[in-house]
Amino acid sequence: MESMNQKTSQPNQPSQIITWGDATQTDRRKKLLELFRQWPIPDSEFFLNLGMFLAPQTLGRVLFMDHLYRQILPIQGIVVEFGCRWGQNLSLLTSLRGIYEPFNRLRKVVGFDTFEGFPQISGQDGALSQGMYSTTPGYARFMAQVLELQEQESPLAHIKKHEIVQGDASVTIREYLERNPQTIIALAYFDLDIYQPTRDCLSSIRDHLTQGSVVGFDELNEQVCPGETVALKEVLGLSRFSIRRFGPSARTSYIVVDGPLG
Ligand SMILES: C[S@@+](CC[C@H](N)C(=O)[O-])C[C@H]1O[C@@H](n2cnc3c(N)ncnc32)[C@H](O)[C@@H]1O
Repeated sequence: MESMNQKTSQPNQPSQIITWGDATQTDRRKKLLELFRQWPIPDSEFFLNLGMFLAPQTLGRVLFMDHLYRQILPIQGIVVEFGCRWGQNLSLLTSLRGIYEPFNRLRKVVGFDTFEGFPQISGQDGALSQGMYSTTPGYARFMAQVLELQEQESPLAHIKKHEIVQGDASVTIREYLERNPQTIIALAYFDLDIYQPTRDCLSSIRDHLTQGSVVGFDELNEQVCPGETVALKEVLGLSRFSIRRFGPSARTSYIVVDGPLG
């Protein structure tokens, strides 16, 4: 989840999201978006210059993903994201694999999402509501095309190393692990925002983590998404691992499995 003090629903946004920005940020972003749409850059230089429009928060996210990825380089296993929405993290993780370990054909990147937003809300989820954070119809297919091409920017492009799993992650993670009993998880990133699927997915992956696995969280200690912390507390406990922060990224945190999971 990006940033919150107001719920916003704009014409080109399929569902409500929560942002912390003030009115000046909204105006500034609107102007930047207009400038982006008018950008006179030639197509041949477009992708080389995308950083031109990266806000500090987005750059912080890129750096955070890099920080997590570098820690799993010596660890066997795949990368999973629970709650991938528009797919930015999956795309970043795919590129990071291309940079750091272009020949690691086993470092699959797997994303789980309903693509229809929160399927249900429980009492632990504060003011969040069902259906928030949906995407547009057919978005999983669009994302698959982008990831396919992103993967081809790096070596071993003929081996598919990503998967998008659509549906309720509480169910689909169990099915995925049944289909793939060989799975070791080196990096799991949790951005489901809500209690029940976070709890279910943490419980499901627990036996697939190893010493050195990294488990990242988008909303720990976040008052608007209390369910994520409650789920971690119930499944792994809050005191067994150090819950670490990475400076440039305000809300996100992670643990490194470095002891028994109990
Ligand atoms: C805040 S968004 C994720 C944002 C994304 N990680 C990013 O960085 O842009 C939360 C996502 O969790 C998904 N989600 C929540 N509960 C889910 C569930 N039970 N199964 C699958 N996806 C779920 C929503 O559909 C939504 O896309």
